[in-house]
Amino acid sequence: MTTDDNAEDREFEVIVWGASGFTGKLTAEYLLKRYGAGDDLRWAIAGRNQAKLEAVREDLSRETGVGTSELPILVGDGDDEAFLREMAGRTKVVCTTVGPYAKYGSKLVAACVASGTHYCDLTGEVQWMQRQIESHQDAAEQSGARIVFNCGFDCIPSDLGTLFVQREMQRRTGAPCCHVQLRVKGFSGAASGGTIASMLNMLEEAENDPSVMEAMNDPYALNPKGERTGPDRPERLTPSYDDDFGQWTAPFVMAGINTKVVRRSNALLGYEYGRDFRYDEAMLMGKGPLAIAKAVGVSGSSAAMMGGMAIGAIRRAVSGRLPAPGDGPAKDRREKGYFDLVLRGVSASGEVIRARVKGDRDPGYGSTSKMLGESAVCLARDELTVSGGLWTPASAMGEALLSRLPANAGVTFEIEDS
Ligand SMILES: NC(=O)c1ccc[n+]([C@@H]2O[C@H](COP(=O)([O-])OP(=O)(O)OC[C@H]3O[C@@H](n4cnc5c(N)ncnc54)[C@H](OP(=O)(O)O)[C@@H]3O)[C@@H](O)[C@H]2O)c1
Repeated sequence: MTTDDNAEDREFEVIVWGASGFTGKLTAEYLLKRYGAGDDLRWAIAGRNQAKLEAVREDLSRETGVGTSELPILVGDGDDEAFLREMAGRTKVVCTTVGPYAKYGSKLVAACVASGTHYCDLTGEVQWMQRQIESHQDAAEQSGARIVFNCGFDCIPSDLGTLFVQREMQRRTGAPCCHVQLRVKGFSGAASGGTIASMLNMLEEAENDPSVMEAMNDPYALNPKGERTGPDRPERLTPSYDDDFGQWTAPFVMAGINTKVVRRSNALLGYEYGRDFRYDEAMLMGKGPLAIAKAVGVSGSSAAMMGGMAIGAIRRAVSGRLPAPGDGPAKDRREKGYFDLVLRGVSASGEVIRARVKGDRDPGYGSTSKMLGESAVCLARDELTVSGGLWTPASAMGEALLSRLPANAGVTFEIEDS
């Protein structure tokens, strides 16, 4: 039986798993404001601690002015397979913010796959995603579960931005872009304790297992097995002058995950962007001598930070001074935050399209919680053409999210010129 066969019988449309955490609570707040508590969307919050979840429910009611007494709470541990299976069986979609996913996420993916339940998350952990894809693809195809990783700032703006540019190029010329470049024009935001814990856990795993570093360095690590080749090389780690944008650039910290997901989307879309498709990301630093200094400074500090944190002793010494799990940027910082991305696509015949992707909140939390919430509702409600399997946001929900996000979530996609 597939999810769509039994979906109507399920008690909930969406369960937010990890609602007591920083991003989970924001995601619940978004769903509450947009869909109410049980009147429009049938949804629930879940986690491992009843008292914390009750406090979240009270806070949400006070902060939004929407009554939450009808919002159900489900309690269990992420290590308890029987509980996870039972929880997954009660809903069409599990939307999870329980991370680091490599530590806490595998049993939930297995439970959703087994019960034909759709799933979305915020992971950026390449090595973990690779393991999940290899373990569950066949079973997910059988059960009808659509498993979609990366439904936050990494990687929705990159993945859907590329799809958006590609579809416009196809519409205008009948051919795809053979090269898409994403450039970060600006953003304002900060990291939460959970994000830092996930990054530290990935570096910890890489120290003990060389295959983790191999996956992080392979541009095609997330492509289906047997299709892990193509024209792109590993991400550039140094500053460079970008002739196409007429500016200096520095490496973008999320490029390592975003680029792999965009390439996986191309493979899952049957190479709609072409077998020779190239994709890269960087941050724009401006023009002139000051911009060179800025590009060198940003590249150097990212390299020093990643290099230093890769060393266990430094990582352990520094981690106590970083935000702890549960902490994250304050409300005014999230509300004043934004992101502004420019995409440039070029076809084999030299036709150029420029597009802009913008978000009206900080990328990691204000905008991410809205993108994740809309992904969950999209999986629960929209007529999607794909069946069960492990998908990317663009390959599973592309056109549906390109409509939902501008309408509901303050994330816009616009063509700038021809
Ligand atoms: N892709 C993106 O753009 C993006 C953006 C934001 C966050 N993220 C990712 O999202 C994840 C969450 O980040 P965060 O800052 O929200 O983290 P957080 O505040 O630490 O929240 C983690 C949640 O996991 C729960 N949890 C931990 N162990 C559990 C277990 N054994 N069973 C059940 N629940 C358990 C915690 O429950 P308690 O409250 O009971 O401790 C809490 O609800 C991280 O992996 C982060 O990297 C990604």
